[in-house]
Amino acid sequence: MGIVITPPKTAEYIISRLGLIKEGQKILDPCVGPGIFVKKLLECGIDKNQIITYDINPSFKHDIEMLGVSFKLQDTLLSLYPDSYNEFDFIVGNPPYLNKASSYVRKNRLKLRSIYGKINAHETYAMFIVNSIWRLKEGGRLGFITSDSFLTLSTHRKLRKFILRNCIINEILLAPKNLFSKQKVSTNPVIIILTKFSGQKNKNIRENNVIKVITRINSEDDYPAHKIVNKIKQLKYNSLPFNIFYIDVEEQVIKLFEEAPRLEDYIQGFIGMHTHDNKKYIAAVKGTKLAEIFNKRNTNISDLNRKYKIIKREDLESEEWIPYLKQGGADQYYRPIMEALDWNKNSRKNYDIPKNVPFEKEGIVISGVSSKLAARYMPKGCFWDSNKAIGFIVKNKSISILFMLGLLNSSLYNYLAKGIINNTNSIQITGIQALPFILPNIETKIKVEKLVNEIIKGKRTNQNYDYIDFQKEIDDLIYTLYSNRFNFPSNLKKKLDGTYSIYKNKPINILN
Ligand SMILES: C[S@@+](CC[C@H](N)C(=O)[O-])C[C@H]1O[C@@H](n2cnc3c(N)ncnc32)[C@H](O)[C@@H]1O
Repeated sequence: MGIVITPPKTAEYIISRLGLIKEGQKILDPCVGPGIFVKKLLECGIDKNQIITYDINPSFKHDIEMLGVSFKLQDTLLSLYPDSYNEFDFIVGNPPYLNKASSYVRKNRLKLRSIYGKINAHETYAMFIVNSIWRLKEGGRLGFITSDSFLTLSTHRKLRKFILRNCIINEILLAPKNLFSKQKVSTNPVIIILTKFSGQKNKNIRENNVIKVITRINSEDDYPAHKIVNKIKQLKYNSLPFNIFYIDVEEQVIKLFEEAPRLEDYIQGFIGMHTHDNKKYIAAVKGTKLAEIFNKRNTNISDLNRKYKIIKREDLESEEWIPYLKQGGADQYYRPIMEALDWNKNSRKNYDIPKNVPFEKEGIVISGVSSKLAARYMPKGCFWDSNKAIGFIVKNKSISILFMLGLLNSSLYNYLAKGIINNTNSIQITGIQALPFILPNIETKIKVEKLVNEIIKGKRTNQNYDYIDFQKEIDDLIYTLYSNRFNFPSNLKKKLDGTYSIYKNKPINILN
């Protein structure tokens, strides 16, 4: 049931951010566990009659009642009655982190969906945020420690909108990464403090609210003296795609997102096809990394029919096989075709090939799974999968495939896509299309195209071709193009040359 105990200093800090708790005000811990928040509240001198607790697990009942505090055994997420709304002045806690695959969520899927479906809250901690905001009185305050994934992931967009429509965000603090590691739990935790100010009448108050944002602290000892505090006007959380609750993004980059057209005006991505049995219908092309992987796997398989298929490159010219793009990975600009799709009439019958997808056109393939943004040239004649590789077509004739490849593989775009929009290893079409784009001047366009052409030429002859010097030039050209328009601060270039460049950090190649 997601039992993880909040370390005492963290509970203390959250309580300290609630502000003044007056006599008679009611405080709820909706998932109390062994009661760390209760103990800290009592230590602060809060009357035990003011504290109310719930938990689904009966084993906590005795200990909590021994503290003199009310305990109700209930499933907080499902026990919502008309009088559960607007009931509490304060809510604190550490909600359980159970995802879609957990037995709890699977078991209660339909009930949970009927309550939280509109807000698209999948993980229990997201549902607890929504549930607790409902339970708070107007003007009431909430302090939670949860996973930080709801701040940025596009799947949590509706939750962020719900928060923006119902609360002022007082504070977002990225808590220490190792906070729960002693309990063998690895999440990146965040502390969020909210005050409920819902409805149209409070829109101005919410939008003008200034949020205190604190970048990741290293240890619990840093709570009182956190170093980098940013102040962000709440309205600004409408500036980035998907209402991302950003922490540390330069003002000028926010302006770029606000003012520049979206990449979707220039390129369009398409989800590809399903074979329903990749092992049967997809072969590796001999001489590629994938063929090596297949070869290794085959050594342990004795049955000929069950072996992974490997074909010769010449077979791609035949009617029976066509080039296929399925693998993600960090390779940029060019990768020889590694996969082939069985194109026999009988095999084809089994495939789900979506209509209106411009398969076989020349374009760009972007890895859906990669540690960095990785775009490659997609020659004519390819089909692609519905997963890990995404085919894009350039829609606007004023932009070339070569320029787009340079742009997407630049350190600036790696930052925009992986540092801001989605900092996990996966990337979606909507994420790419939501990136800002400004048209290049002729000079920059030609220079980038030439450099990309050189890299592709090099990689065609040798897949390990070292193009670092060319990449540096591309990074500088793209940076200058955007910086001239948006006046980027000099520390942004340092960040791009460090964390977001391929030459400082060799990306991990996720190929399987
Ligand atoms: C992460 S622990 C937090 C425990 C404690 N509040 C702390 O911070 O140390 C989450 C708690 O939520 C409880 N829980 C899980 N699902 C629940 C639900 N649907 N309703 C109420 N409590 C639940 C678990 O039993 C567990 O005690």
